[in-house]
Amino acid sequence: MSFCVAIDGPAAAGKGTVSRAVAESFGFAYLDTGLLYRATGAKTFEGLSPIEAATTLAAEDLDRDDLRSGDAGQAASRVAAIPEVREALIDFQRAFARRTGGAVLDGRDIGTVICPDAKVKLYITASDEVRAQRRFAELTAAGEDTTFEKVLSDLRERDERDSARATAPLKPADDAVVIDTSDMSIAEAVAQVVRLIQQKTV
Ligand code: DC
Repeated sequence: MSFCVAIDGPAAAGKGTVSRAVAESFGFAYLDTGLLYRATGAKTFEGLSPIEAATTLAAEDLDRDDLRSGDAGQAASRVAAIPEVREALIDFQRAFARRTGGAVLDGRDIGTVICPDAKVKLYITASDEVRAQRRFAELTAAGEDTTFEKVLSDLRERDERDSARATAPLKPADDAVVIDTSDMSIAEAVAQVVRLIQQKTV
């Protein structure tokens, strides 16, 4: 039986950490859909057009070690505004969502476009400053030379672009539960999400 958990929200809100923990706790498969857009964006660094990059995306493209960089995040957000790029990535995501044994997908349009019938829909958010602080810590731990101010302005620029685009903009699905993790530990956020899923699985 398939059981899809859709987790959307702005950049660095804690979606990935919560999704991984929830997938592990229920034995569901996990797909970080942002990685598909990051890999597509990163392929454009080598001169491919965004549409070529998306239509030729292969498993090995997801193994690049620069996908978590700030530049890859910005490139991802730019290519993600192109309808043909989104279209090229839909079938893979929908097939993943339907897999037997359950799936957690995180991104921007999972509850609205990819998996509108998801059993559980969440929109995980946090204040701009808290999100920038978390992303700044991640990037510096990975060796990127950056500042808190740059991370904050990049994140705001990306959220603005992701929310304003015409196709599949970032927004909570009407039936999503919104969780603000600004004043919450990741453990608290995971516990809340686990409870919500348990209510739907009994
Ligand atoms: O989740 P992330 O920060 O890795 O995503 C990178 C960018 O990819 C994000 O700024 C917008 C785009 N994206 C999207 O448009 N739709 C998704 N489902 C996931 C990511």
